[in-house]
Amino acid sequence: FGSRELAGLHVLVSAGPTYEDIDPVRFIGNRSSGRMGFAVAAAAVQAGATVTLIAGPVSLDTPVGVARRIDVRSAAQMHAAVLEAAAGADIYIGAAAVGDYRPLNVSAQKLKKQHGADWSLQLGENPDILASLSAQTAHPFLVGFAAETHDVASYAQDKLRRKGLDMIAANQVGEGLGFEASDNALTLYWDGGALELPRASKPELARQLIARVAERYRAVRS
Ligand code: PMT
Repeated sequence: FGSRELAGLHVLVSAGPTYEDIDPVRFIGNRSSGRMGFAVAAAAVQAGATVTLIAGPVSLDTPVGVARRIDVRSAAQMHAAVLEAAAGADIYIGAAAVGDYRPLNVSAQKLKKQHGADWSLQLGENPDILASLSAQTAHPFLVGFAAETHDVASYAQDKLRRKGLDMIAANQVGEGLGFEASDNALTLYWDGGALELPRASKPELARQLIARVAERYRAVRS
Protein backbone atom coordinates (compact mmCIF):
# COMPACT_ATOMS: atom_id res chain seq x y z
CA PHE A 1 0.00 0.00 0.00
CA GLY A 2 1.42 3.32 -1.02
CA SER A 3 -1.69 5.04 0.29
CA ARG A 4 -2.65 4.29 3.86
CA GLU A 5 -6.34 4.11 2.99
CA LEU A 6 -7.48 3.04 6.46
CA ALA A 7 -5.27 5.33 8.54
CA GLY A 8 -7.05 6.46 11.71
CA LEU A 9 -9.65 3.67 11.51
CA HIS A 10 -10.14 0.70 13.83
CA VAL A 11 -10.77 -2.52 11.93
CA LEU A 12 -12.08 -5.65 13.65
CA VAL A 13 -11.56 -8.98 11.86
CA SER A 14 -12.81 -12.46 12.76
CA ALA A 15 -11.04 -15.52 11.39
CA GLY A 16 -10.98 -19.28 11.56
CA PRO A 17 -13.51 -21.91 12.57
CA THR A 18 -15.46 -22.36 15.77
CA TYR A 19 -15.49 -25.59 17.76
CA GLU A 20 -18.70 -26.63 19.44
CA ASP A 21 -17.96 -29.09 22.21
CA ILE A 22 -19.89 -32.33 22.60
CA ASP A 23 -17.91 -33.66 25.57
CA PRO A 24 -14.32 -33.20 26.86
CA VAL A 25 -12.82 -34.99 23.82
CA ARG A 26 -15.23 -34.37 20.92
CA PHE A 27 -16.46 -31.32 19.10
CA ILE A 28 -18.19 -30.16 15.92
CA GLY A 29 -15.93 -27.97 13.79
CA ASN A 30 -15.29 -27.01 10.20
CA ARG A 31 -12.41 -26.81 7.74
CA SER A 32 -11.55 -23.12 8.07
CA SER A 33 -7.80 -22.65 8.62
CA GLY A 34 -8.00 -18.93 9.42
CA ARG A 35 -5.71 -18.05 6.51
CA MET A 36 -8.18 -15.76 4.72
CA GLY A 37 -9.06 -13.79 7.85
CA PHE A 38 -5.44 -13.50 8.97
CA ALA A 39 -4.52 -12.20 5.49
CA VAL A 40 -7.34 -9.62 5.77
CA ALA A 41 -6.00 -8.52 9.17
CA ALA A 42 -2.47 -8.17 7.71
CA ALA A 43 -3.77 -6.16 4.73
CA ALA A 44 -5.71 -3.84 7.03
CA VAL A 45 -2.52 -3.23 9.07
CA GLN A 46 -0.67 -2.42 5.84
CA ALA A 47 -3.43 0.04 4.95
CA GLY A 48 -2.77 1.90 8.19
CA ALA A 49 -5.65 0.63 10.37
CA THR A 50 -5.51 -0.28 14.04
CA VAL A 51 -6.49 -3.96 13.89
CA THR A 52 -8.14 -6.25 16.41
CA LEU A 53 -8.22 -9.91 15.39
CA ILE A 54 -10.67 -12.38 16.92
CA ALA A 55 -9.43 -15.88 16.12
CA GLY A 56 -11.11 -19.23 16.42
CA PRO A 57 -8.92 -22.31 17.05
CA VAL A 58 -6.20 -21.99 14.38
CA SER A 59 -2.46 -22.60 14.30
CA LEU A 60 -1.31 -19.32 12.76
CA ASP A 61 1.02 -16.62 14.02
CA THR A 62 -0.45 -13.19 14.63
CA PRO A 63 0.30 -10.92 11.62
CA VAL A 64 2.92 -8.28 12.39
CA GLY A 65 1.35 -5.01 13.50
CA VAL A 66 -1.98 -6.42 14.75
CA ALA A 67 -2.75 -4.38 17.87
CA ARG A 68 -4.75 -7.02 19.71
CA ARG A 69 -5.56 -10.70 19.19
CA ILE A 70 -8.30 -12.48 21.13
CA ASP A 71 -8.49 -16.28 20.87
CA VAL A 72 -11.86 -17.96 21.23
CA ARG A 73 -13.20 -21.49 20.73
CA SER A 74 -16.98 -21.55 20.34
CA ALA A 75 -19.44 -19.44 18.35
CA ALA A 76 -20.89 -18.11 21.62
CA GLN A 77 -17.40 -16.95 22.71
CA MET A 78 -16.74 -15.40 19.30
CA HIS A 79 -20.13 -13.64 19.42
CA ALA A 80 -19.32 -12.14 22.84
CA ALA A 81 -15.75 -11.13 21.89
CA VAL A 82 -16.79 -9.51 18.60
CA LEU A 83 -19.69 -7.60 20.16
CA GLU A 84 -17.45 -6.26 22.90
CA ALA A 85 -14.65 -5.21 20.53
CA ALA A 86 -17.11 -3.78 17.97
CA ALA A 87 -18.00 -0.96 20.34
CA GLY A 88 -14.83 0.87 19.32
CA ALA A 89 -14.56 -0.35 15.72
CA ASP A 90 -15.23 1.49 12.45
CA ILE A 91 -15.26 -1.62 10.26
CA TYR A 92 -16.00 -5.29 11.03
CA ILE A 93 -14.91 -7.96 8.55
CA GLY A 94 -16.34 -11.39 9.36
CA ALA A 95 -14.10 -13.95 7.65
CA ALA A 96 -14.69 -16.59 10.34
CA ALA A 97 -16.66 -19.73 9.55
CA VAL A 98 -18.93 -19.59 12.58
CA GLY A 99 -20.73 -22.79 13.52
CA ASP A 100 -24.46 -22.38 12.92
CA TYR A 101 -25.41 -24.97 15.57
CA ARG A 102 -24.07 -26.30 18.87
CA PRO A 103 -24.86 -29.39 20.92
CA LEU A 104 -27.58 -28.41 23.41
CA ASN A 105 -26.20 -30.63 26.15
CA VAL A 106 -22.43 -30.60 26.63
CA SER A 107 -21.40 -33.63 28.67
CA ALA A 108 -18.88 -33.03 31.47
CA GLN A 109 -17.70 -36.62 31.08
CA LYS A 110 -16.59 -38.47 27.96
CA LEU A 111 -19.67 -40.07 26.41
CA LYS A 112 -19.37 -43.84 26.14
CA LYS A 113 -20.05 -45.69 22.92
CA GLN A 114 -23.32 -47.62 22.95
CA HIS A 115 -22.44 -50.72 20.93
CA GLY A 116 -24.87 -51.54 18.19
CA ALA A 117 -27.00 -48.42 18.69
CA ASP A 118 -27.28 -45.24 16.64
CA TRP A 119 -26.69 -41.96 18.37
CA SER A 120 -28.34 -38.64 17.73
CA LEU A 121 -27.26 -35.26 18.95
CA GLN A 122 -29.65 -32.42 19.61
CA LEU A 123 -28.39 -29.13 18.21
CA GLY A 124 -29.48 -25.59 18.99
CA GLU A 125 -28.99 -22.56 16.74
CA ASN A 126 -26.08 -20.23 17.51
CA PRO A 127 -26.51 -16.46 17.58
CA ASP A 128 -25.57 -14.70 14.33
CA ILE A 129 -22.73 -12.24 14.97
CA LEU A 130 -23.28 -10.08 11.88
CA ALA A 131 -27.05 -9.95 12.38
CA SER A 132 -26.56 -8.95 16.05
CA LEU A 133 -24.25 -6.11 14.99
CA SER A 134 -26.50 -4.83 12.22
CA ALA A 135 -29.44 -4.75 14.65
CA GLN A 136 -27.59 -2.18 16.78
CA THR A 137 -28.38 1.45 16.00
CA ALA A 138 -24.74 2.50 15.84
CA HIS A 139 -22.60 -0.25 14.38
CA PRO A 140 -19.41 -0.57 12.33
CA PHE A 141 -19.39 -0.80 8.54
CA LEU A 142 -20.18 -4.49 8.09
CA VAL A 143 -18.42 -6.84 5.67
CA GLY A 144 -19.45 -10.50 5.59
CA PHE A 145 -18.08 -13.49 3.76
CA ALA A 146 -20.18 -16.21 2.16
CA ALA A 147 -18.78 -19.64 1.44
CA GLU A 148 -21.01 -21.68 -0.82
CA THR A 149 -20.72 -24.84 -2.87
CA HIS A 150 -23.45 -23.78 -5.34
CA ASP A 151 -25.64 -20.81 -6.37
CA VAL A 152 -22.96 -18.53 -4.89
CA ALA A 153 -24.30 -15.23 -6.28
CA SER A 154 -27.89 -15.64 -5.14
CA TYR A 155 -27.03 -16.97 -1.66
CA ALA A 156 -24.47 -14.18 -1.17
CA GLN A 157 -26.82 -11.41 -2.26
CA ASP A 158 -29.51 -12.87 -0.02
CA LYS A 159 -27.08 -12.80 2.97
CA LEU A 160 -26.11 -9.20 2.13
CA ARG A 161 -29.75 -8.12 2.47
CA ARG A 162 -30.89 -10.47 5.25
CA LYS A 163 -27.94 -9.70 7.56
CA GLY A 164 -28.03 -5.95 6.77
CA LEU A 165 -24.42 -5.82 5.49
CA ASP A 166 -22.56 -3.06 3.65
CA MET A 167 -20.59 -5.57 1.57
CA ILE A 168 -20.23 -9.32 1.16
CA ALA A 169 -17.29 -11.31 -0.23
CA ALA A 170 -18.52 -14.53 -1.77
CA ASN A 171 -16.30 -17.51 -2.39
CA GLN A 172 -17.02 -20.82 -4.05
CA VAL A 173 -15.82 -23.75 -1.98
CA GLY A 174 -13.91 -26.57 -3.70
CA GLU A 175 -11.34 -27.11 -6.49
CA GLY A 176 -8.42 -25.88 -4.39
CA LEU A 177 -10.23 -22.72 -3.32
CA GLY A 178 -11.78 -21.48 -0.09
CA PHE A 179 -11.42 -23.54 3.08
CA GLU A 180 -7.83 -24.62 3.91
CA ALA A 181 -6.47 -23.74 0.44
CA SER A 182 -3.76 -21.14 -0.18
CA ASP A 183 -5.76 -19.52 -3.00
CA ASN A 184 -9.24 -18.13 -3.16
CA ALA A 185 -11.46 -16.24 -5.62
CA LEU A 186 -14.00 -13.68 -4.45
CA THR A 187 -16.95 -11.80 -5.84
CA LEU A 188 -17.80 -8.68 -3.88
CA TYR A 189 -21.38 -7.46 -3.69
CA TRP A 190 -22.74 -4.26 -2.24
CA ASP A 191 -25.95 -2.30 -2.68
CA GLY A 192 -25.93 -1.46 -6.38
CA GLY A 193 -22.57 -2.99 -7.29
CA ALA A 194 -20.48 -6.11 -7.78
CA LEU A 195 -16.86 -6.86 -8.55
CA GLU A 196 -15.10 -10.09 -9.37
CA LEU A 197 -11.65 -10.68 -7.86
CA PRO A 198 -10.26 -13.65 -9.82
CA ARG A 199 -8.24 -16.51 -8.33
CA ALA A 200 -5.18 -15.33 -6.44
CA SER A 201 -3.36 -15.99 -3.19
CA LYS A 202 -5.26 -15.08 -0.03
CA PRO A 203 -2.82 -12.24 0.85
CA GLU A 204 -3.27 -10.74 -2.63
CA LEU A 205 -7.08 -11.03 -2.48
CA ALA A 206 -7.07 -9.56 1.02
CA ARG A 207 -5.24 -6.46 -0.29
CA GLN A 208 -7.77 -6.05 -3.11
CA LEU A 209 -10.67 -6.55 -0.70
CA ILE A 210 -9.29 -3.98 1.74
CA ALA A 211 -8.90 -1.42 -1.07
CA ARG A 212 -12.61 -1.86 -1.99
CA VAL A 213 -13.73 -1.80 1.63
CA ALA A 214 -11.85 1.50 2.13
CA GLU A 215 -13.50 2.93 -1.01
CA ARG A 216 -17.04 1.89 0.02
CA TYR A 217 -16.48 2.96 3.63
CA ARG A 218 -15.60 6.46 2.43
CA ALA A 219 -18.57 6.51 0.06
CA VAL A 220 -21.16 5.68 2.73
CA ARG A 221 -19.63 6.88 6.01
CA SER A 222 -17.87 10.15 5.31
O1 PMT B 1 -10.07 -19.92 6.91
P1 PMT B 1 -9.68 -20.35 5.50
O2 PMT B 1 -9.27 -21.80 5.46
O3 PMT B 1 -8.67 -19.43 4.88
O4 PMT B 1 -11.00 -20.27 4.58
C1 PMT B 1 -11.60 -19.03 4.36
C2 PMT B 1 -13.13 -19.13 4.40
C3 PMT B 1 -13.63 -19.99 3.24
C4 PMT B 1 -13.61 -19.74 5.72
C5 PMT B 1 -13.62 -17.65 4.29
O5 PMT B 1 -13.19 -17.10 3.07
C6 PMT B 1 -15.16 -17.57 4.35
O6 PMT B 1 -15.85 -17.68 3.34
N1 PMT B 1 -15.71 -17.36 5.57
C7 PMT B 1 -17.15 -17.41 5.82
C8 PMT B 1 -17.52 -18.85 5.91
C9 PMT B 1 -18.99 -19.16 5.99
O7 PMT B 1 -19.32 -20.32 5.96
O8 PMT B 1 -19.80 -18.22 6.09
P2 PMT B 1 -21.42 -18.39 6.22
O9 PMT B 1 -21.98 -18.44 4.84
O10 PMT B 1 -21.77 -19.51 7.16
O11 PMT B 1 -21.75 -17.06 6.94
C10 PMT B 1 -21.88 -15.83 6.26
C11 PMT B 1 -21.32 -14.72 7.09
O12 PMT B 1 -22.02 -14.66 8.35
C12 PMT B 1 -19.83 -14.84 7.43
O13 PMT B 1 -19.25 -13.55 7.36
C13 PMT B 1 -19.84 -15.35 8.86
O14 PMT B 1 -18.67 -14.90 9.59
C14 PMT B 1 -21.10 -14.72 9.42
N2 PMT B 1 -21.73 -15.47 10.50
C15 PMT B 1 -22.16 -16.77 10.32
C16 PMT B 1 -22.77 -17.45 11.35
C17 PMT B 1 -22.94 -16.80 12.59
N3 PMT B 1 -23.49 -17.42 13.62
N4 PMT B 1 -22.53 -15.53 12.75
C18 PMT B 1 -21.94 -14.84 11.72
O15 PMT B 1 -21.59 -13.65 11.87
